[in-house]
Amino acid sequence: MSVKNFSRRGFLKKASAATAVAAAGAASGYGVVGSTAEKLAALGGTPVRSKPFTPWPPADAEIERSLVATFRSRRWGRMLRGPMEGQGRVVEFERRFAELIGAKYCLATGSCTQALHTALHAVGVSAGDEVLVAPCTFIASVQAILMCGALPVFVDVDLDTFQMDPQKIEPLVNENTRAVEPVHIAGLPCDMKRIMAVADRKGLKVVEDAAQAPLAEVDGQRCGTFGALGCFSFQTSKVIACGEGGAVVSDDLDLLQKCYTFHNMGLAAVPGGGGIGTKYRMNELEAAVLLPQLSTAPGQIETRNRNARHLARRLAEIPGIVPQKLYPGVTRGAYYLYGFRYLKEHFNDAPRDLFLRALRAEGVRFTTMYFDQLNEQPFLENALNSPTFRKIFSRKRLQDYRERNHCPVNDRLSAQGVWLPQYVFLGDRRDMDDIAEAIAKIQRNCDQLAKL
Ligand SMILES: Cc1ncc(COP(=O)(O)O)c(C=O)c1O
Repeated sequence: MSVKNFSRRGFLKKASAATAVAAAGAASGYGVVGSTAEKLAALGGTPVRSKPFTPWPPADAEIERSLVATFRSRRWGRMLRGPMEGQGRVVEFERRFAELIGAKYCLATGSCTQALHTALHAVGVSAGDEVLVAPCTFIASVQAILMCGALPVFVDVDLDTFQMDPQKIEPLVNENTRAVEPVHIAGLPCDMKRIMAVADRKGLKVVEDAAQAPLAEVDGQRCGTFGALGCFSFQTSKVIACGEGGAVVSDDLDLLQKCYTFHNMGLAAVPGGGGIGTKYRMNELEAAVLLPQLSTAPGQIETRNRNARHLARRLAEIPGIVPQKLYPGVTRGAYYLYGFRYLKEHFNDAPRDLFLRALRAEGVRFTTMYFDQLNEQPFLENALNSPTFRKIFSRKRLQDYRERNHCPVNDRLSAQGVWLPQYVFLGDRRDMDDIAEAIAKIQRNCDQLAKL
């Protein structure tokens, strides 16, 4: 059966359902499907979705009150007594965030990039080391490793879950490997049980990049609390946001004191401490924006999980759309992103870019960031050729590194992946139905993609 025939048959089967959605949705901006409905919006048809999704970041009265009160207090810098010590908004945030995540201690930072650099430094990653990381992530996960003078060794991903494949860790471990940095991509948990088992067996430190994963959990345990240290981001697009912000959590106070010293220009909060450091502190205004969100985040996560489950059921009906899978035991995802693979063979062989153009025109928001094949990017080669790296590593070691640095599964994923952003999951089922309908419409009419 050809792809074209397949899609036409699909159209006949689903057209009546689409018309029913039209009647209900046309007046509201939800699910607008009319006589031009089956013409792709990118070709002049009526978009499935005209209503905007839930706006993000949140800018509500509660956050405004909190920010203005801190602004007027004229106390804009954090108290410098140590993590969670003393008073002020940052310290209050550290206490409440630690409690929310289920960690004993928290240190707030100016970003997750800073948190990761701080955490890797605290576990002892230094010049000449290697750190294992997934290639399906944001550049910051990798830069934090480079900033320590260490090599990011890429562990290929699992095609179903999009996460670091635990089976591929052990063969990459050598005498230089110091740590593993699992990234909970999309805010969905990595297979932490298996990653921790390998790390324990091999004596590796684990620093979790939980930038996208506040409140995600496996068997009730929250991401960020499996490894020695867990790092979070509060950058504008994240599920708890203040423009730029981050945090490190841990149950190990000594480690967190090391983080504190490093993030406070090498000035320790405890006698006899002190050492190398930079300035990575969160300020009181950022904490003031974050604090009210610690009350709203748990409800929002539930909404996102409910909507993600509904969308998964709807997408399962569409040929060629394969959602990112959860590992067994995942009790909650943060759903910073909702990922799926686009299989062009079910879309008349149209390349992903054409599908995305059609999807945008139907009114659905998406991104392909994080599918960037970081192991292949020019920044990495430029870093290897920098004076610092050439002083640390022999020519032979860098050449061996380049030869090992391939991730064929991630290459495949990078060409197929699509993410939907978290804020579209803060609405209701009709928002999910619109997304599913927009994708289904494109699939039914995939022969039109060739005209884009
Ligand atoms: C997986 C991941 N790691 C690290 C970061 C860096 O966070 P920040 O922007 O707060 O420095 C991000 C931010 O997008 C991220 O998505």
